[in-house]
Amino acid sequence: MNLSGKVAIVTGGNSGIGLSIVLELAKQGANIVIDYVAHPEATDDLVKQVIALGDQAIGVKADVSKVDDLKLLIAAAVEKFGRVDVMVNNAGVETRTSVLDTTEAQYEKVLAINLKSAFFGTQLAAQQMIKQGGGGRIINITSVHEDWPMPGNTAYCLSKGGMRMLTRTAGVELAPHNILVVGVGPGAVATPINLSTMNDPVLLGKLNAAIPMGRMAKPEEIGSVVAFLAGPGAAYITATTIFADGGIMQSSPGL
Ligand SMILES: NC(=O)c1ccc[n+]([C@@H]2O[C@H](COP(=O)([O-])OP(=O)(O)OC[C@H]3O[C@@H](n4cnc5c(N)ncnc54)[C@H](O)[C@@H]3O)[C@@H](O)[C@H]2O)c1
Repeated sequence: MNLSGKVAIVTGGNSGIGLSIVLELAKQGANIVIDYVAHPEATDDLVKQVIALGDQAIGVKADVSKVDDLKLLIAAAVEKFGRVDVMVNNAGVETRTSVLDTTEAQYEKVLAINLKSAFFGTQLAAQQMIKQGGGGRIINITSVHEDWPMPGNTAYCLSKGGMRMLTRTAGVELAPHNILVVGVGPGAVATPINLSTMNDPVLLGKLNAAIPMGRMAKPEEIGSVVAFLAGPGAAYITATTIFADGGIMQSSPGL
């Protein structure tokens, strides 16, 4: 298996895309630290699924918008497994509010959970990787909206655009340490973050019609990209984003 003996941290790892990333990394033999803030029972269940795949896992409750919690998360990984090889900055939220009516609290929440967490997650993981030697992989779950405006979701787009430049700049800075920093930009994925669209047949029909592949992605179709980027086949990819969007960025002017 491609990731045997490797240790991966996945933030926001007990639901949606994060959950699929955990399982796809575990299928490749990685031991996993599952970060979560809510639903401990979902984390416990996922730990059991990883163990059933023959790997080890622990759940760690840490609010990634707080640097002290991120430090505890990295420390928990090192205490349990001795190292960190792969850091997946996946946790994210959105408010679906426009530039005209986003409040200061909404702005700060989205930017802290999506962007600040990825910045300090990258910094702290890279410090650990340099200390232990041998390089590493940092994978930022961005979005087509790192590039593509989404009217009515301004703070979210801003956070993902920030992650785009974090990925590029940190990728260049950390390349001499063989720490590769890559973004994964999903299009629309069938996860809890999209429940309002998925539960509205009109909105869902409009979305599917705009996607060349005619459907939303399954979460595991994003998890498998992350597993590839964490493995030996992606040893020369850094400071860029891999989009997995069913072709939507090439075909639609925006939604
Ligand atoms: N679903 C999509 O269509 C889509 C598309 C592009 C990008 N993304 C990105 O994928 C990532 C995962 O989203 P998802 O679709 O799986 O939705 P999700 O709501 O299932 O996952 C988000 C996760 O982040 C966690 N989280 C929220 N605040 C946190 C905090 N302070 N600390 C730690 N964890 C926290 C949540 O508990 C949840 O587990 C997000 O960054 C999202 O922006 C999703």
